[in-house]
Amino acid sequence: MTPNCTAGETSPDPNLPERLQTPLRVGSVVLKSRVFQSPLSGVTDLVFRRLVRRYAPDSMLYTEMVNATGLHYGAQVPKIMEVDPQESPVSIQLFDCRPDFLAEAARLAVAQGASTVDINMGCPVNKITRNGGGSSLLRQPELAGEIVARVVAAVNVPVTVKTRLGWSDQEINILEFARRMEEAGAAMITVHGRTRAQGYHGPARWEWIKKVKEVLKIPVIANGDIFSATAAVKCLAETGADGVMCSRGTMGYPFLVAEVDHFLKTGELPAPPTPRQRLECARDHLQGLWEYKGERGLRQARKHLTWYARGFPGAAPLRGQLCLVSSLQEGLDLLDRAMDYLEEFAPREFRVNPGMVD
Ligand SMILES: Cc1cc2nc3c(=O)[nH]c(=O)nc-3n(C[C@H](O)[C@H](O)[C@H](O)COP(=O)(O)O)c2cc1C
Repeated sequence: MTPNCTAGETSPDPNLPERLQTPLRVGSVVLKSRVFQSPLSGVTDLVFRRLVRRYAPDSMLYTEMVNATGLHYGAQVPKIMEVDPQESPVSIQLFDCRPDFLAEAARLAVAQGASTVDINMGCPVNKITRNGGGSSLLRQPELAGEIVARVVAAVNVPVTVKTRLGWSDQEINILEFARRMEEAGAAMITVHGRTRAQGYHGPARWEWIKKVKEVLKIPVIANGDIFSATAAVKCLAETGADGVMCSRGTMGYPFLVAEVDHFLKTGELPAPPTPRQRLECARDHLQGLWEYKGERGLRQARKHLTWYARGFPGAAPLRGQLCLVSSLQEGLDLLDRAMDYLEEFAPREFRVNPGMVD
């Protein structure tokens, strides 16, 4: 994990902000921010995205990945495909290996309000790859190209791809693969700098993202190990990428995308939220999940709440209680009591930095 930065620190590369202050064109869509909130299954639902959007008005947000076969046979549009009418720019991410199902799903995504349609070609999970989706498409570049071409033909919004370096160290094929996606009509590619075999282990290999950027004309977005604004700038400097995508660093920290965006635009780091502000955000998250999904939302909220409770006195025992909450009121009371405790005992100037753990 990259070390945290302190407020007031400025960009290590004075030329970088200027290049990155210009809008980013992705096909017909023009983005005012070059910082992306990644798709995270089980995390980036409508409630989480509203929180990210509260702080980062311009950034592209992504839904969780949606199964195109499930959509084809399903009777109704799943909740993970719902977007707010005013949420734009938002991308709906799809996974599958059947070009016709994906084309059909993409049309539905546009009807739902997607600004772009993203195709997942990076998911390492067995359940997905066994059925030919996610990162297994890296081993079937021809089919992956056909998928992109078919989806591009089906919709009038840009079609993008998110993928990895290859299946394993022995099969790194991202350069040929990315070129093929571009030829097939992809408007942008996001590269997670790990192989499928790596899962989420080891550092992301940004050097490969630099190579991808050198061979493509379409925008290349760097992904992997962006846990702070300074890490984002370092990644952009090293890769020459057109933008960065934040992922695990946003879990329990929906402020990250806005912090990176602000840093890129101004060269200044905003003060990180206080523990109280983080817990207030956790409160909104819990309330939102309850209102949107009821009991299921409450169960899902437990993990989010434990991610928020990091890096301040008393965070560890609080996490132990938050992961067991069995009602909305219990969760709200725990958070309120923690905020009162911080008010009384924690020094006012105490700040939590992104990625910090206690
Ligand atoms: C819990 C979790 C869920 C994820 N879900 C998705 C997903 O639905 N679609 C996708 O393209 N990537 C998904 N990813 C991968 C991330 O978007 C990202 O590529 C990866 O975490 C690398 O970035 P990081 O090192 O900054 O976390 C997921 C990762 C995690 C940890």
